[in-house]
Amino acid sequence: MIPPFFVEGLNLSVVMPAVSPCPATPCLRHESRVVCDQARIVPYSETEAKGMRMEPISPQEFTPCEFTTEWRGAFENAEVNALHAECFEHRLLADDWWSQVNRFSLGWVCSRHLGRLVGFVNIAWNGGVHAFVLDTMVSSAFQRQGIAKALIGEVVDRAKDTACEWLHVDFDPHLRQFYFDACGFRPTDAGLIALK
Ligand SMILES: CC(C)(COP(=O)(O)OP(=O)(O)OC[C@H]1O[C@@H](n2cnc3c(N)ncnc32)[C@H](O)[C@@H]1OP(=O)(O)O)[C@@H](O)C(=O)NCCC(=O)NCCS
Repeated sequence: MIPPFFVEGLNLSVVMPAVSPCPATPCLRHESRVVCDQARIVPYSETEAKGMRMEPISPQEFTPCEFTTEWRGAFENAEVNALHAECFEHRLLADDWWSQVNRFSLGWVCSRHLGRLVGFVNIAWNGGVHAFVLDTMVSSAFQRQGIAKALIGEVVDRAKDTACEWLHVDFDPHLRQFYFDACGFRPTDAGLIALK
């Protein structure tokens, strides 16, 4: 089940059904470039916590939003495992991404097309001023449409709102155009040791 989560700064919690997002679940607009208004804000009753909550709208009311990009968006582990296996060309794994990113990451971004996870990036964090772009991936059928650039743009905007001062990335040479030209990283020296 996709867990309910809290939207920073808005005092909203989102009630997510136990099925995959869009079109069955609403999309939520909060501060930045996410997404569409397919949810309704309702006050908590007296017996509930203070604040407001978002309730899914009915299927009749729902108009699917084509692409959504969401910082710290909810996801199922199976979705990320499938996307990672496709994009990095390895067998399907059963990693617990949800626990991992919630423990160790500054954040992550989910990009969805009609509810299907088509892009993802994970931002590891040292707990201080350094954050690290990992696992940038876009499903092959959706590549070269600016989705990864939008993922990184969302990360940069969000990371600027934190105490982090530096966003790092490393990559294979063929992605210089993507990271340097499209995303605005500047070249720097970096090092790497294979431990296994
Ligand atoms: C790398 C990856 C995330 C790019 O996703 P994407 O959504 O296709 O990228 P975008 O459409 O946002 O690309 C923006 C620009 O970056 C450049 N770019 C993107 N992918 C590129 C590639 N494979 N080779 C060269 N330039 C590339 C292009 O200039 C592109 O603009 P254009 O399409 O108008 O020419 C995607 O190809 C992918 O998932 N690859 C497999 C996993 C991987 O290697 N991830 C990187 C880990 S460091």
